[in-house]
Amino acid sequence: MIVLGIETSCDETAAALVEDGRRILSSVVASQIDVHHPYGGVVPELASRKHIEAIVAVVEEAVGRAEMAPEKIDAAAATQGPGLVGALLVGFNYARAFAYARKIPFYGVNHLEGHMHSVFLEKDSPAFPFVALLVSGGHTGIYYVTSYTKMALMGRTRDDAAGEAFDKVAKMTGLGYPGGGVVEDAARSGSPEKIQFPRPYLDKSNFDFSFSGLKTAVLRYLQTHPGLEEKKVSDIAAGFQEAVTDVLSYKVIHAAETMHCRDICLVGGVAANQRLREKVTENAVRLGIAVHIPSVSLCGDNAAMIAAAGFHHLAAGETSGLGDDVYSRVKNG
Ligand code: KG4
Ligand code: ZN
Repeated sequence: MIVLGIETSCDETAAALVEDGRRILSSVVASQIDVHHPYGGVVPELASRKHIEAIVAVVEEAVGRAEMAPEKIDAAAATQGPGLVGALLVGFNYARAFAYARKIPFYGVNHLEGHMHSVFLEKDSPAFPFVALLVSGGHTGIYYVTSYTKMALMGRTRDDAAGEAFDKVAKMTGLGYPGGGVVEDAARSGSPEKIQFPRPYLDKSNFDFSFSGLKTAVLRYLQTHPGLEEKKVSDIAAGFQEAVTDVLSYKVIHAAETMHCRDICLVGGVAANQRLREKVTENAVRLGIAVHIPSVSLCGDNAAMIAAAGFHHLAAGETSGLGDDVYSRVKNG
């Protein structure tokens, strides 16, 4: 089954064609970074407008790159939520209209479930059940995944998402937007030991996280050490990154041990972080646990993961109706 996937939940307009939830035939991601850069973060109204401008060309490019006649597409899937409502509406309505006009089935995908499917687009995919750490700009959680469509939440952040903390620290230190990549780059020339930031919830009592105190600790450090000279910013970035990745890696490994899982997956935008990838892999290997992390291009938002997640629901005969609507948040997400 060839599924057209569409993703417009935040600041990427993306379309992809994926076969049977595994083989990427094409994947196009049009980033809006330049549009939001002057504002230091995503401006929802601008995001919606840019999605409207880009969606037709992005879908046409995905179909063109796959060198496939649109009639060969068997079904369509688009992100239904969570995300920015105005942004979601563009991709969701486009995909639904595309399916309706061609009389093919349509399914609205949960964005978090979409991220989970990024691991199945790689050769080395995990065996069920596995534990997944989903770390993005809007969500941070640990899931026990038992099938392509079933994931149970084990723990989540009680305040900020890990990616959000990266973005805020980048803003505070003048490193810019988007935060993750620039903080990681700055951290390369800094010392991870020089500034010791707190490691919130670094214990075995639960699988939850908290990053807002860490963000405040960075702010307090900046207030008590004025000036943004390059060396200091690098040390802050390295110290902050070390604290976040310590907590994330400790918790996901503890979750895998608790559930007796031999496989861990890291998914979401923050899974692109090299320090996190190394740390989880090193610690897991010692315990005989295999770590699966998608390539960097599949960690951030993309439509291939949405097509892959949609495929499993569509193959089971599930479809979304004309009356269904997008949603900004999920309960217990
Ligand atoms: O999954 P994603 O593309 O979008 C959401 O669903 O939120 O994740 C975006 C988040 C942003 O907060 C961004 O700063 C973070 O992922 N990110 C990173 C890195 N690359 C992106 N965080 C840490 N290190 C990175 N290299
Ligand atoms: Zn995402």
